[in-house]
Amino acid sequence: MKGLILSGGTGTRMRPFTYSRAKQLLPVANKPVLHYCMDFLVAAGIREIGVIVGDTHKQIKASLGDGSKWGAAVAYIHQDQPRGLAHAVLQAADFVGDSSFVMVLGDNLIEEDLTTFLAKFNPTTHAAAIVLREVANPRQFGVAKVAGDEILYLVEKPAEPPSNLAIMGIYLFTPHIFAAARAIKPSARGELEITDAIQYLIEKGHKVRPLTATGQWYDVGSAADLLRANTRVLNSKLAPGKVIIPASTTVINSKIEGPTIIGESCEIVNSYIGPHTSVGDGCSIVNCSVLNSILFDHSSIRNLPWVIESSVIADNAALVGPPGTSVKITAGSNCTINF
Ligand code: DAU
Repeated sequence: MKGLILSGGTGTRMRPFTYSRAKQLLPVANKPVLHYCMDFLVAAGIREIGVIVGDTHKQIKASLGDGSKWGAAVAYIHQDQPRGLAHAVLQAADFVGDSSFVMVLGDNLIEEDLTTFLAKFNPTTHAAAIVLREVANPRQFGVAKVAGDEILYLVEKPAEPPSNLAIMGIYLFTPHIFAAARAIKPSARGELEITDAIQYLIEKGHKVRPLTATGQWYDVGSAADLLRANTRVLNSKLAPGKVIIPASTTVINSKIEGPTIIGESCEIVNSYIGPHTSVGDGCSIVNCSVLNSILFDHSSIRNLPWVIESSVIADNAALVGPPGTSVKITAGSNCTINF
């Protein structure tokens, strides 16, 4: 069984953060979302992993390397343009060969056990198995109509969802998916949809099995999603009140409440850092209060008179006070600054 992670795409919905980072490298509890995908595959014994990359290939390669950090072998597969999930799969046809494979989306943080899904997938009787989860807002997802142990049909981001079972972004495929992806036409949004390719399999008489997920899942599609994922992951990984501070970080006259994680080589001076905060490497927090927030690497907040709360501050960003009676701002496009 091989693994395939989709890590192409443009990440436009996550601007401005994706100006400096690939969407899949946005940090949750100081770990890129993509690394959670690697953990997910490797924990189930998958060692051969293909990673679809696009414009952000340099960053993705720098982050995963050859996969040896996970005891895995990573092969990078280039996609010229984000032409859809089924188009991405087609690029991996040579890599996959005649093996069954697990596909995951590199911008989804999944805390599930893949082993239990693999145990329920029989590639000789089923062309695919798709992991589904009940959601409150199915219109934003691919949605499945299920009867017993079979998926009857699937539809991508429907205006009128036939159920509340969303496609989670974990797909178990046999190589039948390649013929299906070649057969379909682009959707209204101009993409070759994987949902349409699976639907094509069903229409050609193949069986597609639904698998039900109950664990945590975060599709990191907005700053609010990122903060929510950060809070939940810190809650689940750290004991209540626990704080991680590496030896290379300096803390002077400050109070830090957990669950909170601080990166390497930071300086924290005369400050309060509250629960559910993740501070990346090389950050400065001086004369500030911050809670329930994410600071990416090498960002700084200094002398701010407000409590910084539920905020996301990207790489190398600096917020410096005090503002006095006027403020001086250099705001990049798509920034939101709430005073
Ligand atoms: O999050 C689950 C949803 O993911 C499913 O419910 C939908 O059925 C499925 O189509 C997908 O929808 P999204 O619109 O959220 O997909 P998105 O464009 O965000 O792409 C998902 C990942 O795949 C992301 O890491 C970027 C990567 N990608 C995307 C495209 C379009 C590629 O590598 N190549 C591509 O061409």
